[in-house]
Amino acid sequence: MSEIIRLADAEAVAHEAARRWVEIAQAAVAERGAFRIALSGGNTPRRLYELMASAPWRDQAPWPQTFVFWGDERRVPPSHPDSDYRMARETLLDHVPVPPDHIFRMLGEELANSAKQDYEEKLRRHFGLRAGEWPRFDMILLGLGKDGHIASIFPGTRAVSDLSNMVVVYEVPQLRSERMTLTFPVINHARNIIFLVTGEEKAPALAAVFGDVQKPSTFPAQGVQPVDGSLVWLVDEAAASLLKK
Ligand code: 6PG
Repeated sequence: MSEIIRLADAEAVAHEAARRWVEIAQAAVAERGAFRIALSGGNTPRRLYELMASAPWRDQAPWPQTFVFWGDERRVPPSHPDSDYRMARETLLDHVPVPPDHIFRMLGEELANSAKQDYEEKLRRHFGLRAGEWPRFDMILLGLGKDGHIASIFPGTRAVSDLSNMVVVYEVPQLRSERMTLTFPVINHARNIIFLVTGEEKAPALAAVFGDVQKPSTFPAQGVQPVDGSLVWLVDEAAASLLKK
């Protein structure tokens, strides 16, 4: 099931995402005793993370039963301003009682095969995966790049076509730097996938994703097709301005 929800502005998107986060987390803990989330990097989710670290959402989320992963990471140490881990720590994780051993950082400082193997082992161990099984996150947060990328799955790269690994580490030609990312099979096995897309600069990419040309190698966001879960796009009017009414 895929749904686009148009909200007035970025603040409204963040508040709706916080409401859904609490709802999904409470249901996951009630049903399975744990809530497993993969965070997005970039700027858009900052406000959501700040809201989740503040009343009323902070007091409603089941932090002791929450397990935090990332969708991707840059080739930087955890203290670097570009680190997705650092951003989540500063805006959220330093302010809520998630147990330290429930936080699974991608080793951005390494970003080589060892980092890939480290993260895949973290996933295998935490989710208790047998050979050929995929981790099933309760919630995966995603942003949308202006070029249609999601997590660090960039257009025209091997990350788009890798459907056999859980994690890919590769040099992104467009950035001339390395990234580490969860792959489509992991993302698409999630129970709830939530996109946060705000701002006029994202309007062309959002219109292309929902346009007549369906080509995930060009618009990776089109490759987000949950196997057995929900996909919700939380977008503000500025980002939605080029969508067909
Ligand atoms: C990252 C993200 C990336 C991001 C988009 C949108 O690590 O940067 O995973 O996929 O979500 O690039 O970024 P903004 O939210 O900053 O526009």
